[in-house]
Amino acid sequence: MSRPQLLDLFSGAGGAAVGYHRAGFDVVGVDIAPQPRYPFEFVRADALEFLAAWQHGERLPMPGGGLWREDFAAIHASPPCPGYSVQGGDHPLLIEPVRELLEQSGLPYVIENIPDARKAMRAPTTLCGSSFGLRVRRHRLFETNWPLMAPPCAHGLQRSNPHRMRAPYTPPANAIVPVYGGGQVGFPVAVCRDAMGIDWMTTDELKDAIPPAYTELIGAQLLVHLRARQTA
Ligand SMILES: C[S@@+](CC[C@H](N)C(=O)[O-])C[C@H]1O[C@@H](n2cnc3c(N)ncnc32)[C@H](O)[C@@H]1O
Repeated sequence: MSRPQLLDLFSGAGGAAVGYHRAGFDVVGVDIAPQPRYPFEFVRADALEFLAAWQHGERLPMPGGGLWREDFAAIHASPPCPGYSVQGGDHPLLIEPVRELLEQSGLPYVIENIPDARKAMRAPTTLCGSSFGLRVRRHRLFETNWPLMAPPCAHGLQRSNPHRMRAPYTPPANAIVPVYGGGQVGFPVAVCRDAMGIDWMTTDELKDAIPPAYTELIGAQLLVHLRARQTA
């Protein structure tokens, strides 16, 4: 099978995208904000409007031409999380409308969000940085419409609770680095990049990102699922 294409909605600067690419997908990103560091083909658009138009047979506009819905094998979506955070606030809740459109697509999909969004998600699988030898815990939930298996957390291999770490601080080699809003104040961007396994993002982009290791694991299982669908 040649490299299948995956649509990466709410792409940010491409943490998820790079994992899928490593697993064997070609990736096209869609985000409402400009993403100058996104490493693959990128379309600036509202993801919901984009998906709705695409479902109705519109061609996906691309710098070098266009792509049709049929050109894609799977979709990943990372709707913004602030609306689901316990801190609350007036933010859009996009998981449900996105799921509706993803279901209409008929394609295998992945919806990612934070643990606070658990009630809005259907039987999500949790991934943790400790399972990948990373210096973040960064639990993230992944809803799929195909079977996904997760490795267990390995918190015992990490040192220090992020909430007790305060800058200025030089974290020991296996200590957790808090890469989230405000958390990494005082931590050099190089330390945060290393902790996430991401070497191309700014501090602000890092705090929104998924470590590529997560989606590399998901992508590998998704490829198996796609192959099984092909031969069924
Ligand atoms: C959590 S971040 C995505 C992080 C990304 N998955 C990664 O791993 O790097 C959410 C992204 O959604 C984008 N966004 C918010 N509302 C949007 C919308 N209506 N359409 C498209 N993108 C949107 C934001 O600009 C932000 O980049």
